[in-house]
Amino acid sequence: MKKNQLLFLAIIFFVNQLHAQDAKMNAFITNLMSKMTLEEKIGQLNLVTPGGAVTGSVVSKDVDDKIRKGFVGGLFGITTGPDKIRQAQDIAVKNSRLHIPLIFGLDVIHGHKTVFPIPLGLSCSWDTTLIERSARIAATEASADGIDWAYSPMVDIARDPRWGRIAEGAGEDPYLGSLVARAMVKGYQGNDLTKNDAVMACVKHFALYGAAEAGRDYNPSDMSRLRMYQFYLAPYKAAIDAGVGSVMSSFNEIDGIPATGNKWLLTDLLRKQWGFKGLVVSDYTSVSEMIAHGMGNLQEVSALSLRAGLDMDMVAEGFLNTLKKSLQEGKVTQQQIDAACRRILEAKYKLGLFDDPYRRMSTDRAAKEILSEEHRRAAREIAAHCFVLLKNNNQTLPLKKSGTIALVGPLANSQRNMLGTWSVSGDFSKDVTVIDGIKNVAGSSVNVIYAKGANLSDDTSFIKRVNVFGPEIEVDSRSPQEMINEAVDAANKSDVVVAVVGEAADMTGEASSMSNIGIPESQENLLQALVKTGKPVVVVLFNGRPMTLTWENDHATAILDTWFGGTEAGNAIADVLFGNYNPSGKITATFPRNVGQIPIYYSHKNTGRPYDGTGFPKFKSNYLDVSNDPLYPFGYGLSYTTFSYSDITLNKKHIIPGETLRVKVTVTNTGNYDGEETVQLYTRDMVASVTQPVKELKKFQKIFLKKGESKEVTFSIGLDNLKFYNSDLKYVYEAGDFKVFVGTNSQDVKEADFVLDK
Ligand code: BGC
Repeated sequence: MKKNQLLFLAIIFFVNQLHAQDAKMNAFITNLMSKMTLEEKIGQLNLVTPGGAVTGSVVSKDVDDKIRKGFVGGLFGITTGPDKIRQAQDIAVKNSRLHIPLIFGLDVIHGHKTVFPIPLGLSCSWDTTLIERSARIAATEASADGIDWAYSPMVDIARDPRWGRIAEGAGEDPYLGSLVARAMVKGYQGNDLTKNDAVMACVKHFALYGAAEAGRDYNPSDMSRLRMYQFYLAPYKAAIDAGVGSVMSSFNEIDGIPATGNKWLLTDLLRKQWGFKGLVVSDYTSVSEMIAHGMGNLQEVSALSLRAGLDMDMVAEGFLNTLKKSLQEGKVTQQQIDAACRRILEAKYKLGLFDDPYRRMSTDRAAKEILSEEHRRAAREIAAHCFVLLKNNNQTLPLKKSGTIALVGPLANSQRNMLGTWSVSGDFSKDVTVIDGIKNVAGSSVNVIYAKGANLSDDTSFIKRVNVFGPEIEVDSRSPQEMINEAVDAANKSDVVVAVVGEAADMTGEASSMSNIGIPESQENLLQALVKTGKPVVVVLFNGRPMTLTWENDHATAILDTWFGGTEAGNAIADVLFGNYNPSGKITATFPRNVGQIPIYYSHKNTGRPYDGTGFPKFKSNYLDVSNDPLYPFGYGLSYTTFSYSDITLNKKHIIPGETLRVKVTVTNTGNYDGEETVQLYTRDMVASVTQPVKELKKFQKIFLKKGESKEVTFSIGLDNLKFYNSDLKYVYEAGDFKVFVGTNSQDVKEADFVLDK
């Protein structure tokens, strides 16, 4: 038999197996559903939280009783560990009429108890293997604690750093965002969902939540269909193509209809066009929030959601309390209720919960795996790969392991602020601070003088708002001036200043939008005083969003952006500061010069009056008071070494459909350290039937180069990389002129031209 025939037979065998498995599942569920009352079916659609990690005012009531009556399909937000989960599962499988197991969800976002950098930071590694590994470890730990279902990945494209939730995603680019989405789904789910250490992923927030107007949380996202297809939808689609088990609808409205009740979104696009077969859950009370959106009363919005294609109602209990009435009144059909119920039961079946409802709770596994040495090592390694060196004058970094360091700033010794937003299971007492990391890495060979120097903020009403989850902003009893004096004194006695400044953990994340995204004034004052000492000032930045760092960029000697680096952040930061790891991160969201430039992103359109960056020509697309350029462009990040790029060589100047363009550059490590470089390839379609961005990321390769070493990097570009959505929303290519760019970031590139012929 020929190889091809063998392959064909193998595929047929595999497809038959799948069909057999599906048939078995369908028969099981059909049989179960035949025994269920209407109330029990509606009960499966009800997702409640008994408290713990909550993001709204409503916490579900009488949960145990409802479970017993079969009125609950799943629980989420339990952060107290497996005992509580076991108790709830006991009620469901021992005391409810049909013994249907519950599904347990949780916001496992960037790690469970071993916490990795915030997702925006993770994306800056441009390393999908590492990202997948972080999700795998998160799944291993969360499942040991009894979790079946992780509300991640969050893949909302975000181009507005005022929006606090930009911290939770992979930044502004749909291509990179899609790769990250896929990696995370694979990491959580593995290849077999029934495994005890696999959890079902939930891609969110469907859709367009990241385009909230004015960067204010929960605001509408209003954009053309073309823009959606061109820039925003790809990462959700990538998660679905990667087999994600569930989708969460978003809070925002789209085209005037909130996502949770939007039939075009949840049925026409998601199920019909994209072929999604899994379960769709609402966001936290997003069903009942449609009342405030002006879509009707609880009964009306619940019926609207079910008809739109929503399966599970998170916390609002609109399904539980109104669907029966809506059925009687003909506002929803039995078929719609059955379809939603079936999808939830299917998810439970696929997770193996009917075989063993307790399969993911394992005290033994939890004791062995949670925060294990191995997981902590991975967290340290991964974190170091996410940090971005934004500036490094006079090769101030890496620091020598000798002399005296003034370690100052409100984040230098702040265990509470290491994990960042959405680390609901993280225990901050386990975090390694920067001061401890420096001691661990440099030992007694450096003399460290520590001074807090400033509070994270001195604005009392702001502090109250940020501190809702605990005193992240701790206010010193000393006056700001006394604190600054102490820090300046430390600086004067030292060779170098390391100033750990930026945002408190909950200055980003949900409901943490900001209109001013600079470093808070108390800390700016500290930095100004430190700079005045004339000592080199290394800024180590904690942040959940791109910040406006114009002053810091002009005055600090070096800036290392470390996001919120997770459990091992302090060690990882010290590894990078002292050169045990040469930083390789590149930003995945543009850093503006000021808030007025927002939204700012690299793949913008050209306008009919493009500004070429020189002088101030009137009647061009520019500002009177600031340049068009960002402070740091997408893809930007330095290394302790330097890299040079050769010109691009192409294997041909013309390609036809079916042919491959080979784009080659030679990258040389021209500096003094071994290091990694992310070589980025962008294209521009010069003439098309709908306007195209000035650049779009199409490929990248992360390479390692020893000091002095050169490597040839080759990219293959085919038709699939040159397609776009036309005005009929068809994914097409059009023959014509293209540019290809290769470089170290989206701005600093070599370029070449080629033609796609018919
Ligand atoms: C957030 C979701 C989260 C859910 C459950 C909501 O407020 O928007 O991202 O998964 O709460 O905690």
